[in-house]
Amino acid sequence: MQHKTIIEPFRIKSVEPIEMSTEQQRQEYLKQANNNLFLIESKKVIIDLLTDSGTSAMSAEQWAGIMRGDESYAGARSWERMRDAVRDLTGCEHIMPIHQGRAGESILYTQLGGKGKVFISNTHFDTTRANIEYGGATAIDCITKEGQQPALEYPFKGNIDIEKLETAIIENGAENIGAVILTVTNNSGGGQPVSMQNAKDVRSICDKYKILYLLDCCRIAENSYFVALKEAAYQGKEYREIAKEMFRLADGSIMSAKKDALVNMGGFIALKDKVIADSCINTLIIKEGFVTYGGLSGRDMEAIAIGLIEVFDKDYLHYRITSTTYLGDKLHELGVPVMRPIGGHAVYIDAKALYSHIPVNQYPGQALVCDLYLKAGIRSCEIGSVMFGKKDKNGKLIPATMELVRLAIPRRVYTQSHIDYVIETFADIIKEKSQPKGMKITYEPEFLRHFTALFEREL
Ligand code: F0G
Repeated sequence: MQHKTIIEPFRIKSVEPIEMSTEQQRQEYLKQANNNLFLIESKKVIIDLLTDSGTSAMSAEQWAGIMRGDESYAGARSWERMRDAVRDLTGCEHIMPIHQGRAGESILYTQLGGKGKVFISNTHFDTTRANIEYGGATAIDCITKEGQQPALEYPFKGNIDIEKLETAIIENGAENIGAVILTVTNNSGGGQPVSMQNAKDVRSICDKYKILYLLDCCRIAENSYFVALKEAAYQGKEYREIAKEMFRLADGSIMSAKKDALVNMGGFIALKDKVIADSCINTLIIKEGFVTYGGLSGRDMEAIAIGLIEVFDKDYLHYRITSTTYLGDKLHELGVPVMRPIGGHAVYIDAKALYSHIPVNQYPGQALVCDLYLKAGIRSCEIGSVMFGKKDKNGKLIPATMELVRLAIPRRVYTQSHIDYVIETFADIIKEKSQPKGMKITYEPEFLRHFTALFEREL
C-alpha cells in the first residue's frame, strides 16, 4: 500500500511543553518588543519557525554521546571523533573546530579578505556578507535569473550564474578575488539547491583563474537529497556519497553544524591548503580556543560526529524534505505566493506579492511576520529589505531584490499537526490580505539591523 501521510521516522522520548497564549496577550507582547520578533521571549511563541539553526532535536544516540564527551583541554577523544568524521566527509586534511558558522567566517575571511578584496557567491548569507564587509572587502552575489523569480518552477534555483561569476572575476581582477563561496543550499536565495554540475562549473572557473573555492556547506545533506532527486546522473546515488563528491570539488568549506549536523551548537572550517589553515590558527586560538576544541565542549564535538552520520539517513532526509514540501504545497494550494519549488529547510513567502498594497519602503515582509505572530503565535523571519536593504547617499532605501518571509523548520521538532496549525493560520491571512498596514523603522543599528531594529505600524 502506498501511504500519503508523511510519518515522522522517530518516536518522541522527551517533550518540551509549549505555553499557549491569546491574541490579546500577543498584541501586548508584540508592542513590548516593538514589532521585532527577535526581541520576543521564546516562551511567548507557540510555533517557532524563526530558524532551523541550532533548534534541532538530538537523537538518543547523540544524547548518549553527550555523556561520553571528553572534556580534556588538549587532544580530547571527542575532538578526534569529530575531526575524523569531518575529514571523512570533506576529504580535507586541515580541520578547525569553531563554535558556530560566523566565528569561522570571521577567522577565514579576515585572512583572505581586507580592503580591495572581493568575494563572489551565489548569495552570501547575512553573517557571511557582514564578516566580509566588516573586514573592508566587498561581497558580490551572482544568482541566476531563474533564482530571482519566486514563482518560477526550476530545479536548481540556488545555482551561481557562471557567466556573471566570470564577468565579476574579470572586472575585479582575479588576483583580488578572496574566494568564490558556493552556499548549499542557498539560504538567502530561498533555500534552493545547487546542482553538482554547477559545483563542477565553479571548479573549472576557479581553476582557470586560480581562485580559492569554498563551500558554505551548512545544509549539504539537504542539498544532496535534491541532487539525487533532480539531477539525472545522480539518481539512486547515496546522499552521503553525493555530499562527498561536492566537498571534494572545493578547496575547503565552512560549516555551521547548527543545521545539518543536527546539533544545537558548533561548526568547523575544513581546508586542503596547509598555508591558509596555519594562517587561521592564531586567530582561532585567540578568539575561539585551542585547536582541539575551538570554543566547543567535548560533548558538543561528540554530538557533531554522530549528527554528521545521522543526517544522511535516507528515511530521515526523505521525511525532512517531503514534510517541508507538504507545508509549502498546502500554502501554494491556498493561493499564498510561495517561492517555488519548495526548498529544503524552509518555506519562503513572497510578501511583496501577498501584501501587494504595501510598498517596499514599508516592509511588507515585516508586516506579515507581525501578523503571523498576532494571529497564531507563529514566529517567522523577514528576509527582505529589513535584512538586506541598503541606503543611498540621501538615506533613501535601496530595496533588496525580494521581500520574503521565511518559515524555517527545525529538524525533528514539530509534527504534522503543528504544521497543519500553521496552514490554518495562512487560510485566515489570505482572506484578509488587503487589510494590513505597512511598517516603519523607528530605530536601527549600523550592522545586521534586523536583529535589533524597532518598528511601528504605519497609520
Ligand atoms: N551560512 C549560512 C548559509 C547560514 O544559513 C548561516 C546561519 C551561517 C552561515 C552562519 O552560521 O549561525 O552558525 O553563525 N544561518 C542561520 C539561519 C542563522 O537562521 O539561517 P551561524
